[in-house]
Amino acid sequence: MNPQTDLVPLAIHGGAKTVTTHFPWPVFDESDVQAVTQVVQSGAWGNPDCKGEVEAFEQAFAAYCGTRYAVSCVNGSVSLRLALIACGVKPGDEVIVPPYTFIATASTVIEANCVPVFVDIDPATYNIDPKAIEAAITERTRVIIPVHFGGQACDMDAIMALARRHNLRVIEDAAHAHGAEYQGRKLGSIGDVGSFSFQSSKNLTSGEGGIVVTNDEALYRQMDSLRNVGRIEGGQWYDHYYPGCNYRITQMQAVLLSRQLKRLEEQTQLRNRNGLYLNDLLQPIEGITPLERGLGETLHSYHLYIFKYSSSKFGGVPKNRFVDMLAAEGVPCFRGYPHPLYRQPLFQQKNFMCYAIPETVDYTQVHCPVAERACQEEAVWILQHAMLGTREDMEAFARAIVKIQRSVS
Ligand SMILES: Cc1ncc(COP(=O)(O)O)c(C=O)c1O
Repeated sequence: MNPQTDLVPLAIHGGAKTVTTHFPWPVFDESDVQAVTQVVQSGAWGNPDCKGEVEAFEQAFAAYCGTRYAVSCVNGSVSLRLALIACGVKPGDEVIVPPYTFIATASTVIEANCVPVFVDIDPATYNIDPKAIEAAITERTRVIIPVHFGGQACDMDAIMALARRHNLRVIEDAAHAHGAEYQGRKLGSIGDVGSFSFQSSKNLTSGEGGIVVTNDEALYRQMDSLRNVGRIEGGQWYDHYYPGCNYRITQMQAVLLSRQLKRLEEQTQLRNRNGLYLNDLLQPIEGITPLERGLGETLHSYHLYIFKYSSSKFGGVPKNRFVDMLAAEGVPCFRGYPHPLYRQPLFQQKNFMCYAIPETVDYTQVHCPVAERACQEEAVWILQHAMLGTREDMEAFARAIVKIQRSVS
């Protein structure tokens, strides 16, 4: 037998794909169409006083998360901004964030006239490292924003203990973590505020949208007012008490979200089961290391299933080329962020348009080696809709990786 001639050609070179399943997203049926149609036909499309479908969804989402309050808004960036302002940050305050996340986690800090302070992630989980947070706390620190990256729970016990000790607020960026749990509690319900996105790729979506959840009545009232042009409960339509904006969602979005929410728990359980199975399948492959499940992680939403790739076990093929090969094999995957956030032009060129950031702040000197390695060399993402596949699909993902390895080694 000649192993060279027995090799199956890679799909990227014109061979047959390993995975032929189509993974639809968003998931919906005729009943969603009917529900939106009814709102359209009612003519009540807007959300002037946050009643009707919007309020019903907010109550359902708060109950699902186990919090007292929820305030919906136009997206998961505005939700972070509402949370920061409600937490009472002052110009020049420092907010600790991870560098391995979407830009909104840090850019909303600048929008709130504060200084993002980047601390590195844990190499085992890619979540913010509590030890690095502690080392970065100064007398100017006001808020920590842990991101439950890919739907993986941060070490919330350690983070909350730190926050209480230093009198800091915690805003959980749970944009990837709808339905995920830490020690049996829904992510987003543990810090002072939890922030979610409903943008089209997210595990719960209405195309665009966001929400904050909290148990703190004062924070709730402030965020509720800020998303509704500074109005307050019991106030007149043209009475404005705070410098908010119109960040309200429509009734059509809300009804769609209520429908999608009914599917979320089952979908999350399925992604979690598939993620655990994929861990077992990928662990034995040399050069592939699934991320470790976080401490206290009881349910992972696998918005992203992430594994670490080592090119040395794949004939030196660089990560981005490997991801192209894997995608060609039919695995819905992505190379992820090209750089940690502090390498973005926004930070390197100091395009802050915000005068509260001291001149001395210099992001060209920031270096988070774990995040840099994740971006450039290691991290491969399999996308959430693929995690709704069958066990056979997970087996096919593993086969696709092995096929590439055999072909390039
Ligand atoms: C971690 C994280 N935070 C916040 C956001 C912002 O959400 P949106 O796009 O709804 O503004 C995103 C969006 O991708 C995200 O990934």
